[in-house]
Amino acid sequence: MRRIVVALTGASGAVYGLRLLEALVASGAEVHLTISPAAQQVFHHEMKIELGLDHFDPMVLLPAPVGRLDDSGLKHYGFRPLLDSTATGKTLGMVKYYPVRDYAAGIASGSFLTAGMVICPCSMGTLASIAQGLSSNLIHRAADVHLKERRKLVLVPRETPLSTIAIGNMKTLADAGAIILPAMPGYYHEPQSLADLVDFIVARVCDQLGVPHTLGHRWSEARNGEGFE
Ligand SMILES: Cc1cc2nc3c(=O)[nH]c(=O)nc-3n(C[C@H](O)[C@H](O)[C@H](O)COP(=O)(O)O)c2cc1C
Repeated sequence: MRRIVVALTGASGAVYGLRLLEALVASGAEVHLTISPAAQQVFHHEMKIELGLDHFDPMVLLPAPVGRLDDSGLKHYGFRPLLDSTATGKTLGMVKYYPVRDYAAGIASGSFLTAGMVICPCSMGTLASIAQGLSSNLIHRAADVHLKERRKLVLVPRETPLSTIAIGNMKTLADAGAIILPAMPGYYHEPQSLADLVDFIVARVCDQLGVPHTLGHRWSEARNGEGFE
């Protein structure tokens, strides 16, 4: 089972994090999740989802029939379901949650082996803290661990325009080995819905982590560069 650390922070684009969790669990991944207090505010504002971070149940973030998320926060997006509890022969993954002040969590240590970490969405504040090596919460610490262990760290920043400070922090992190994967969807796949734009980004994150997915078509050279397979 592929073990992935996921952090949700307080940048706009909570829906990216939601869809990523669904895709990872659908792939059979073992997800180790932590969430910043600012992400809690953004989830309230953008998705109308209330996250009680002290006694948090990850099922709140997974759509029915597997989890408890109804379509109230998702109805405008038009997502195709990835999780189907009735699907035969499919092993679903799981989600384990850690409060962001829990420095005793496994993910705070390099001895806890993982296939990588993703912060999605990633705020400029979290980006800056990791770039400076502050480790002032579990998210920063786990990211620092992934950098020092030379493991895959994928950051999905969302901000525009970018200050030179943010650009400098991204360069620092890219130089340290992180993948900077901005929430910046392409349009060449002719998206028909907001879901298609979200899935474009989530698919790129899954590709970086080596996670199999069915989130969309891939560009096909086989069709003379004109379409998708
Ligand atoms: C509704 C809302 C949207 C926000 N959008 C962004 C954003 O897109 N990018 C960003 O860097 N910060 C954004 N912020 C500000 C961050 O949440 C804030 O800087 C916070 O300190 C980040 O903390 P964290 O990195 O621990 O999550 C937003 C805040 C709110 C409430």
